Amino acid sequence: MADTLYDRLGGTETITQISADIVDLHLSNPLIAPRFAQSDTTRLKKVVSEFFITGTGGPNLYTGKDMRSVHQGMNISAIEFVAVLDDALAAMNKNGIAQREQEEVLFILYSMRADIILV
Ligand code: HEM
Repeated sequence: MADTLYDRLGGTETITQISADIVDLHLSNPLIAPRFAQSDTTRLKKVVSEFFITGTGGPNLYTGKDMRSVHQGMNISAIEFVAVLDDALAAMNKNGIAQREQEEVLFILYSMRADIILV
């Protein structure tokens, strides 16, 4: 069987690093940083990496809420959504992820838009 996206991204170690980088980039991205002003960033990095690991075909260990429940009532705009995608791409570039895998992750994230934007 072909390797999962999880394997091709480098497994838990690389995905944990990418996830921490995504959260750090959000905290310094002026378009979205205010959204995370009250966040427990240690916990956020943990659940984001669990979500990423589980969602790319790794072990099933996500302990957070589903995407619609988490983002409901936040009034998130399409511009903010693109800012999150930009940070995900920057974090993958920083960690040496190849274009094919970046495209697959981007597609997975983009497909979640209806549960996140203006829900
Ligand atoms: C595909 C895009 C996105 C994904 C995969 C995603 C994923 C997640 C995950 C896994 C959590 C943690 C859930 C939990 O605590 O149980 C979360 C929380 C959150 N997300 Fe998103 N998110 C996305 C887009 C966005 C956007 C565009 C915004 C607004 C700028 C946003 C703002 C937040 C905030 C404010 C929290 C709560 C943070 C906290 O509890 O400290 N998210 N998101």
